[in-house]
Amino acid sequence: MNTLIFNGSPRENGDTAHLIREIERGLAGEVHIVNAYRSDVSACVDCRYCREHEGCAIDDGMREIYRRIQECDNILIASPLYFSELTGRLLDVGSRLQTYFSARRFRGEEPIPKPKRGAILLVGGGTGDPNRACATARVLLRAMNCREIHEAVCIHNTDAIPAIEDANARPGLENIVNFFWGGNAAASSGGDSESSPPAEKSASTKNTAP
Ligand SMILES: Cc1cc2nc3c(=O)[nH]c(=O)nc-3n(C[C@H](O)[C@H](O)[C@H](O)COP(=O)(O)O)c2cc1C
Repeated sequence: MNTLIFNGSPRENGDTAHLIREIERGLAGEVHIVNAYRSDVSACVDCRYCREHEGCAIDDGMREIYRRIQECDNILIASPLYFSELTGRLLDVGSRLQTYFSARRFRGEEPIPKPKRGAILLVGGGTGDPNRACATARVLLRAMNCREIHEAVCIHNTDAIPAIEDANARPGLENIVNFFWGGNAAASSGGDSESSPPAEKSASTKNTAP
């Protein structure tokens, strides 16, 4: 089992980091965490190199992440909600997945032969709607050839209860772990089209009434 986790939080011991540690405990094999705010990865500048060439013209920490994307079996995108979206630095890292889009669209190649399982974990201070961030995360997961994507798990209300102390967070974390071990997705989205990502019907874990 080889799992790649993208952590979109700048806080080393924040809610996202704690929940990732919980998930990590349930996994086996290799687990690698990309900390978006501490990684040496700059944003895509649309130089269009990848329309004609494999890879990316920017020589930075993304090179290693591209290699890890090829090798892994599972990918988790974990992020706080910032203005109902994934965090800015995580979007910077995500923008570098454009090389995969270009391979398919402009060069007619499948850049990631090995299919993966994907999952989304979001935390929010309030009870706001996570659908926009879910939709973005799903686009990123599909770019990395995640054919099955687990229903997003969203832990709300961290302003009142730190995520790690929130007992209602556990079932969602366990579902992601089971899914990565080969279990069923609560809701899979392998057939979603990239041009019109579906809105998440509901997050699988909520700790407050809507
Ligand atoms: C710039 C900024 C924007 C935020 N926007 C939202 C938001 O739209 N919805 C929400 O529920 N929480 C929002 N929050 C709160 C964080 O998502 C929340 O505190 C989260 O638990 C932080 O996770 P972390 O400790 O893993 O960094 C925002 C926080 C910041 C700093």
